[in-house]
Amino acid sequence: MTPIASLASTTLQMLDTPQQLSADAAVAEDARLALRTIQRRSQSLLRFVDAFRTLAHIPVPAMRKVPVKELFDHLHFFFQVQLAERSILADFQVEPVDLSLEADPALLEQVLINLVLNAVESLDHQDGGIIRVRAQRGERGQIKISVSDNGPGLPPELKEKAFIPFFSTKPSGSGIGLSLSRLILRLHGASIRFHSVPQVETTFEMVFPA
Ligand SMILES: Nc1ncnc2c1ncn2[C@@H]1O[C@H](COP(=O)(O)OP(=O)(O)OP(=O)(O)O)[C@@H](O)[C@H]1O
Ligand SMILES: [Mg+2]
Repeated sequence: MTPIASLASTTLQMLDTPQQLSADAAVAEDARLALRTIQRRSQSLLRFVDAFRTLAHIPVPAMRKVPVKELFDHLHFFFQVQLAERSILADFQVEPVDLSLEADPALLEQVLINLVLNAVESLDHQDGGIIRVRAQRGERGQIKISVSDNGPGLPPELKEKAFIPFFSTKPSGSGIGLSLSRLILRLHGASIRFHSVPQVETTFEMVFPA
């Protein structure tokens, strides 16, 4: 905050000296530049504070039996326009189709949105993007839900980092999508991990206990 505050007072001083302002166009230009910097920094600070608030206030999950197909239908609908605009092919599969799990549907939807959004963003600079969202029952009755993309993926050294709050490799990313997702999943007794083969398949898999 301190650099923004001092930048603001210097700019104010410039503008409080009208003689100097009219005498020197360069002063006006400096003031404009300073104001633009203040505006930009304030916006990213606001984004950061918003992200921080989200992480600190996860509601207690209201668990109920959630049909996975219903969850996927909402998700598909939510992303429909964005996927079409970017010509990304999306494939949603639930096996068996009547699969359901104990979860807070709103929180779980938030997790899925974060994962699909990351997949969409990872496909930003390429054609032929494919996103697969799958749910299936594991050998021991656990439920596995995964989100895959064929984007550039994550290097192995990001294995743990990617889940750290505020870690982001994106110019305007807050870095809370994955950490928030992991927190929400823990509240469900579930886990999340990823496996990445660049340009072939990057998969984030969640496992819900039986
Ligand atoms: N599907 C993916 N493909 C490639 N990299 C990914 C993928 N998902 C996550 N990452 C990497 O993990 C980092 C952390 O992801 P996370 O969702 O927590 O934050 P973000 O997407 O950068 O910002 P935010 O979700 O807050 O908008 C990303 O910046 C990116 O480097
Ligand atoms: Mg994200």
